[in-house]
Amino acid sequence: MALPSCAIPVSAMTTPSFQPWSSWEGQALIVGPGGIGAALASELGRRAPGLRVRTAGRGGGHLQLDLTDDASLARLAATAARELAPLRIVINASGLLHDGELQPEKRLSQVHRSALERSFAVNAFGPLLLAQAIEPALPKDRPVHFASLSARVGSIADNRLGGWYAYRAAKAAQNQLLRTLAIEWQRRLPQACVTMLHPGTTATELSAPFRSSVPPSGLFTPLRAASHLLDVLEGRTAASSGDFLAWDGQPVPW
Ligand SMILES: NC(=O)c1ccc[n+]([C@@H]2O[C@H](COP(=O)([O-])OP(=O)(O)OC[C@H]3O[C@@H](n4cnc5c(N)ncnc54)[C@H](OP(=O)(O)O)[C@@H]3O)[C@@H](O)[C@H]2O)c1
Repeated sequence: MALPSCAIPVSAMTTPSFQPWSSWEGQALIVGPGGIGAALASELGRRAPGLRVRTAGRGGGHLQLDLTDDASLARLAATAARELAPLRIVINASGLLHDGELQPEKRLSQVHRSALERSFAVNAFGPLLLAQAIEPALPKDRPVHFASLSARVGSIADNRLGGWYAYRAAKAAQNQLLRTLAIEWQRRLPQACVTMLHPGTTATELSAPFRSSVPPSGLFTPLRAASHLLDVLEGRTAASSGDFLAWDGQPVPW
């Protein structure tokens, strides 16, 4: 079967040169200022003083944004085009594993259509629709990062424990959607680097009910996780757009 015409191998693209973030100017946007997102915003502000770092979320961010609401995404798109260009770094740190009603499934009998839909709305569709909303604010003539927090449990090859149907599948779908975006942007935004990131187990509300078996030495503070992730991102260029990497820079199997 013939590939779509946009399916140019990532490796066949031009290699933009590396520039340290200390010299970057423009704006940055962190979506989902929860545990890791808030730490990313403060650490990025320290590392890239020439970038104005803003946050967006359902509450507490500079900008109001609900990733599951098309009207909210349309308002972000209008604000981005009007006020956020040139947008140099965008990091999606939103995610949904549990809330009052939604709990990760331990077995098939616990799977519900509504939970699958809610998880996909935030963890899979959210990052792609975010990319669509902010795309007009991305410059074509300078390096740009679009990164999104995925999770190692979204790896199909690495799935040995089972369970967590909705979250695992939604993160796997996020990876496929953003890999596809990376290929499209290599053509249309050749300086954009798209990265899916696993932060490591980090002490936030999202992980709180599920980390009793993690030894303290294996649990990151949000600031440590943010620092690792920015180290990984800063060293990357558009030449390797579309990778799924862990906090230590190692590739995570799809
Ligand atoms: N913590 C870990 O161990 C770990 C491990 C692997 C991967 N991750 C991933 O890392 C990312 C950050 O997680 P975290 O640990 O920092 O969790 P967190 O503290 O719970 O933060 C999650 C953020 O997502 C936001 N969010 C949820 N639904 C949203 C929506 N519809 N629209 C906009 N924002 C929404 C939350 O905002 P509200 O306050 O409005 O709900 C919150 O700011 C997630 O993608 C998570 O899957 C975390």
